[in-house]
Amino acid sequence: MHSFGYRANALLTLAITILAFMCGIASFSDNFNTPIPTTEVQVLNINWFQKKPDGDDEVSLTLNISADLQSLFTWNTKQVFVFLAAEYVTPKNSLNQISLWDGIIPTKEHAKFLIHTTNKYRFVDQGSNLRGKAFNLTLHWHVMPKTGKMSANKLVMTGYRLPETYR
Ligand SMILES: *[C@@H]1O[C@H](CO)[C@@H](O)[C@H](O)[C@H]1NC(C)=O
Ligand SMILES: *[C@@H]1O[C@H](CO)[C@@H](O)[C@H](O)[C@H]1NC(C)=O
Repeated sequence: MHSFGYRANALLTLAITILAFMCGIASFSDNFNTPIPTTEVQVLNINWFQKKPDGDDEVSLTLNISADLQSLFTWNTKQVFVFLAAEYVTPKNSLNQISLWDGIIPTKEHAKFLIHTTNKYRFVDQGSNLRGKAFNLTLHWHVMPKTGKMSANKLVMTGYRLPETYR
């Protein structure tokens, strides 16, 4: 007579096989989801703009960040990490990337949002390069899946410029 233990073990093996198969399908089917996120960011105000005593420029902005990242969510999405960065070029660095704001989006319902905020992290240059500086605002995201590989992408918004003078 087969013992109860034997049958329980066979059942467990079957369950694990099915689970592994479903995880495979989950991360595979994710590849067919072509997300089309959208975002729009306005700089509503330059709150202040100064050269600090140590010589580095710092600016404070009020931002209006709207985004619809709902298409990033599938049933295999655990959460999405998102950050907004100012990106610009200086003689010293081919890319300066300064994170201004970030957030964790836990569910699809939270993935469409409108945020009116001052920069959460300081916008400080490594020098005094910010007067009249053209910059991009880039929304980066990292999709953390329940199973499978993390993926990342971004949307670049161009055409921003800081004032010519401190204020
Ligand atoms: C912020 O952006 C949203 C969507 O683009 C817009 O409807 C709203 O009027 C903006 N708010 C301000 C204060 O400009
Ligand atoms: C902004 O992004 C565009 C397109 O990716 C790029 O060509 C341009 O050099 C960027 N501008 C700055 C100031 O980084």
